[in-house]
Amino acid sequence: MSKRSLIYAANWKMNHGPTAARDFLARFLQVTSPAADRQLWFFPPAVSIAAARDAAAGRDDVVVGAQNVHWEPKGAFTGELSIPLVMEAGARAVLIGHSERRHLFGETDEQVGRKLAAAIKSGLTPMVCVGETLAEREGGRTEQVVTRQVAALLDRIGPADWERVVLAYEPVWAIGTGKNATPDDAAQVHGLIRFELGRRGVTGRVPILYGGSVNQGNVLALLAREEVDGVLVGGASLEPDGWAELVGLGA
Ligand code: 13P
Repeated sequence: MSKRSLIYAANWKMNHGPTAARDFLARFLQVTSPAADRQLWFFPPAVSIAAARDAAAGRDDVVVGAQNVHWEPKGAFTGELSIPLVMEAGARAVLIGHSERRHLFGETDEQVGRKLAAAIKSGLTPMVCVGETLAEREGGRTEQVVTRQVAALLDRIGPADWERVVLAYEPVWAIGTGKNATPDDAAQVHGLIRFELGRRGVTGRVPILYGGSVNQGNVLALLAREEVDGVLVGGASLEPDGWAELVGLGA
């Protein structure tokens, strides 16, 4: 495998409270040495961000992030978390527009764009997710949907801001279903995204991760494609030894 830099991102969704997060990282970091060409990102539930940050202290290859934020820095938004709050807890990154936010909680392209702009302004690194549903794919609308989602991001921030953005292509039909996109499918959509970025004046190489039923059996084939700069993983990231094995496969 080539030695370009890869990002392995674990999205724990609604799993691992502070004690479990601390225990996970203690074990995982014990069996995973830092590597210059590999970043290990963790998105624990918000209540576990501080525990994860503390457990990973001294490991520059680890980035801890929030799974969601509000775009306003403060205000009367019961149940929401602002960017300053998650940064104080130790988050350096944030997942924005995950398909579960978009489809289960009704987050719109417009809200995703606002969150992106707020993250860029505040210094929190955004990892923004895009991807089509099964009906959209079967209806031949994948390109149209992904292009629209990416355009909504391009409308919000300037070309230079993209140096601090990470994207993740997560086809909704592949998340938690055991059905991953083929490396060809992923490479094709990643190429489309990169084309759209280039068309709008983004000259730097924005990392584009693939997510959706990534596991130890398919990760190498996905990462073998030069269009895929890392993986964003749910289920296969929940157990420390299994996740350590997965991130070690490409070493
Ligand atoms: P799975 O890896 O469980 O399919 O989840 C993918 C995902 O949603 C990561 O953000």
